[in-house]
Amino acid sequence: MKAATAEIIRALDGLMPRTAIILGSGLGGLVENLTDAVTIAFADLEGFPQSGVSGHSGMLVAGKLAEVPVILVSGRIHYYESGDASAMRLPIECLKAIGVRNLILTNSAGSVDEKMAPGSVMQISDHIDFSGRNPLIGEPTDKRFVGMTNAYDEELAAQMRAAAKKSKVELFKGVYMWFSGPSFETPAEIKMARILGANAVGMSTVPEVILGRFVGLNIAAFSVITNFAAGMTGDELSHDETKEMAPKGGENLTKILTAWLEAK
Ligand code: HPA
Repeated sequence: MKAATAEIIRALDGLMPRTAIILGSGLGGLVENLTDAVTIAFADLEGFPQSGVSGHSGMLVAGKLAEVPVILVSGRIHYYESGDASAMRLPIECLKAIGVRNLILTNSAGSVDEKMAPGSVMQISDHIDFSGRNPLIGEPTDKRFVGMTNAYDEELAAQMRAAAKKSKVELFKGVYMWFSGPSFETPAEIKMARILGANAVGMSTVPEVILGRFVGLNIAAFSVITNFAAGMTGDELSHDETKEMAPKGGENLTKILTAWLEAK
């Protein structure tokens, strides 16, 4: 971790971001809004995970957004790529080591709630780890027993709601249920998810929330809704649909995050 941390600090050249944003699908726009951007490829950071999917390797992009230093993580590694729930551990430990305090997680997700249509943005208020996986399995110290009662920081959440209001973006709030993927859920699984209290379903974020709390970061998380979940419309789900729909909600999420930074 030391070598990667030192390399990031060297590349940042004095920039000290206190906020990191892990980008889900459709949030690429945020990268383009950065000024004085510095890009660091995961491939150039010792021990960082390499994504095997569709040639999209991960990278860190640091710069200023609304005059505030931020570091964006693009091309997160998903559990379904390798079966390793702790794939994002080193990147998150390095973020903590360079002085980051707030970890903002974003993803695209399916809606379980008829009132929350594709294009909506949902603030994650809590989650259900339905994958049964945990990124801290194998961690030998007692630090592994991370409390999750207040995993999503209430103060950050309130600031984000204020930012949404200011930017006139409707912000839903709900529970995110993590399925391992990569196949989508069945209609029966979505019925179950609804009964168990989920509002959205997806294939990421939960391991990073656990890792973020493990290293002591304050967490806020958002889902961009790209589709109604399996069985709700009769249509087959596809990754193409996810990619096509994500930018719409992504624009609204960008507005919220920019307004939040402007208020800092
Ligand atoms: N299920 C799981 N992950 C997803 C979905 C979904 O319906 N939509 C986007 N990511």
